[in-house]
Amino acid sequence: MLLDPPTVVSQNEITLSVREIEPLLQAPPMNVPPWPGATITLKDGRTMYIREATLEEAPAMMGYMKRVMEQDHDFYDVVGARVHAEIAGWYRKRLKDPYTLLGLIDGEWVGFANGRLMNEDINISLHTMALARGGRIGAIMYYVKTYYAFEILGSKEFWATYESYNGWHRWGLGMAQPSYPWPEYQHELGGARVYYVTKKYWDAVVKDYVRQMVGTDLVFDVPVEIVKANEQLKIPQDVTV
Ligand SMILES: CC(C)(COP(=O)(O)OP(=O)(O)OC[C@H]1O[C@@H](n2cnc3c(N)ncnc32)[C@H](O)[C@@H]1OP(=O)(O)O)[C@@H](O)C(=O)NCCC(=O)NCCS
Repeated sequence: MLLDPPTVVSQNEITLSVREIEPLLQAPPMNVPPWPGATITLKDGRTMYIREATLEEAPAMMGYMKRVMEQDHDFYDVVGARVHAEIAGWYRKRLKDPYTLLGLIDGEWVGFANGRLMNEDINISLHTMALARGGRIGAIMYYVKTYYAFEILGSKEFWATYESYNGWHRWGLGMAQPSYPWPEYQHELGGARVYYVTKKYWDAVVKDYVRQMVGTDLVFDVPVEIVKANEQLKIPQDVTV
C-alpha cells in the first residue's frame, strides 16, 4: 500500500535486511527440555527406540513423506501432506516450539509423532504415523507424545484431533478422550473438534495406556549400543503402509 508522506523526508527509500524481518516472522523459542530417548519392546520382541529427529534429517524425511502422501487409503494422503508441511515448517522455522519424534528399529524409520507447544500449559498434538503396520507402533508414538507433554514438559493439557478412523479409534476412543464444545473450540488442523487430556486425567488413567496396548512400558535407561544403532536414520526403501 502506498500513501504520500505528510512531511518532507530525507530518505525516500528505507532498505531492510531480511535479517531484520526474520525476528518478526520467527517465534522466539521457549526453553523446551528435550525428549530424552526411550525404548519399548514391541509385541514381536523387537526393540523400538524413540528419539528426537535432527534438523539435518528433515530433507530426507520430507522426501519420504512425498511418497507416503501418494497412498490413497486410511488417510495417509492427507496426513502425509500435512506431516510434510509440518516438517518443512520446522525446518524453515515457521512452527512455534515444535517437537519431532522418530520411532526407529535398528535405525530404520517406522514411526513418527510431532506436536508443538502453544504455551507453557497447552501442548498441541499435530500428527502420528505408523510407517510399518501391525506392531501398534502408532499407538506407542502417540503415547510418547503424551508422556513427553505431561511428565517432561509439564503441560497442563494436551489437545489433539483426528483425521482418520484409525487415529480416532486408537486414541480418541482408546484413551476415552473428551472433546471441547464445537465449533466454539477448533483444533488448528482444519478446525476439527479438540479432543483433550488433562494432567489429572493422565495421572488417573492415560498413563497406563501403553501397558494395556503393548504389555510393557517405556524404558529410559537406554544402552549405548541401542543409541548408536539408531544414530543414522535409515529411510525405508519402500512405502509399505
Ligand atoms: C493411526 C495410526 C498411527 C495407528 O497406527 P498403529 O497403532 O500402529 O496401528 P495400525 O493402523 O497399523 O493398525 C491398526 C489395526 O489394524 C491392523 N492392521 C491394519 N493394517 C494392517 C496391515 N497392513 N498389516 C497388519 N495389520 C494391520 C493392525 O494389526 C491393528 O490391529 P490391532 O488393533 O489389533 O493392533 C496408523 O493407522 C497411521 O499411521 N495411519 C495414517 C495416518 C493417521 O491416520 N494418523 C493419525 C491421524 S489422526
